[in-house]
Amino acid sequence: MAETHKAGVIRFYDTHPINEDEILAKLAARGDDLAHLTEDQLKDFDQDHYGGIEVVDTLAARAGIARAHRVLDVCSGMGGPARWLAHRIGCRVTGLDLTLSRVEAARRLTRRVGLDGLVDFVHGDATAMPLPTAAFDRVVSQEAWLHVPDKPAVVRECARVLVPGGVLAFTDVVLRAPLAAHEERRLAAEMHAPGVLPASDYLALLARNGLAVASSEDLSAAWTEILVRRLAMYRGLRDTTVAKFGQAHYDAWDATYGFFVGLFAAGKLGGLRAVATRAAGAAPAR
Ligand SMILES: C[S@@+](CC[C@H](N)C(=O)[O-])C[C@H]1O[C@@H](n2cnc3c(N)ncnc32)[C@H](O)[C@@H]1O
Repeated sequence: MAETHKAGVIRFYDTHPINEDEILAKLAARGDDLAHLTEDQLKDFDQDHYGGIEVVDTLAARAGIARAHRVLDVCSGMGGPARWLAHRIGCRVTGLDLTLSRVEAARRLTRRVGLDGLVDFVHGDATAMPLPTAAFDRVVSQEAWLHVPDKPAVVRECARVLVPGGVLAFTDVVLRAPLAAHEERRLAAEMHAPGVLPASDYLALLARNGLAVASSEDLSAAWTEILVRRLAMYRGLRDTTVAKFGQAHYDAWDATYGFFVGLFAAGKLGGLRAVATRAAGAAPAR
């Protein structure tokens, strides 16, 4: 039976070169004491987006996240951004992710650095969040919605869980020039990224869901540079990836990631940072 899209995403992250074992190995190799790990140490290796904690700080500043806020990180992965926000700002953060192995790793890493009083993780789908309506002051997300085929549903859910006047701030991959049919197929099949939207469509989607766009930034140039370095970083993880998942998996990953980075270098894919405010009383579109 053909693998469903969701099953493909989960397998992609279950077998991702950046994982809990690899993070702990890097910390140990640096000489950090794993029994007394701090967030200031962990933050160097647990961010699975483009740009590390600096861009989490930028997103938090754009969203105006403050200590009193209840923050939701949609597609929180291993919890790197969620922990960093709680540690730096002191806010409560909930992370939501589809991949159970990511949620479980996030919980373990959070306990390790003693942030479990402020940060918790929920296993679930961003298009049907198992979370109450109007429960969060700020919603953030980084480099994840490319994997969600139903982007209207994820935006609608973000609007639903925000309080009126609450702010959504996210970054994601966007389409800058048309893809050839074979590129579109490969992006969907190998990167599990179907239906990447142009930035203008994303902004229109926000507006349709009662989210007034406050700012949008084109991150394409910065991301292209970061992705070239990221490909080199993955190649540096060759031995650990082969040991954990096998040579064939490494080879397939390398070819896929090289293809993905090539689409950025060719000006076909890029990055968007968008910030939008939920209008008081606005009902999410159906
Ligand atoms: C590139 S990682 C980003 C993780 C995190 N935002 C970070 O910056 O470290 C993308 C994450 O999106 C999650 N994801 C993909 N589709 C999802 C969905 N429909 N609902 C919730 N999470 C999803 C994956 O499981 C993965 O953990």
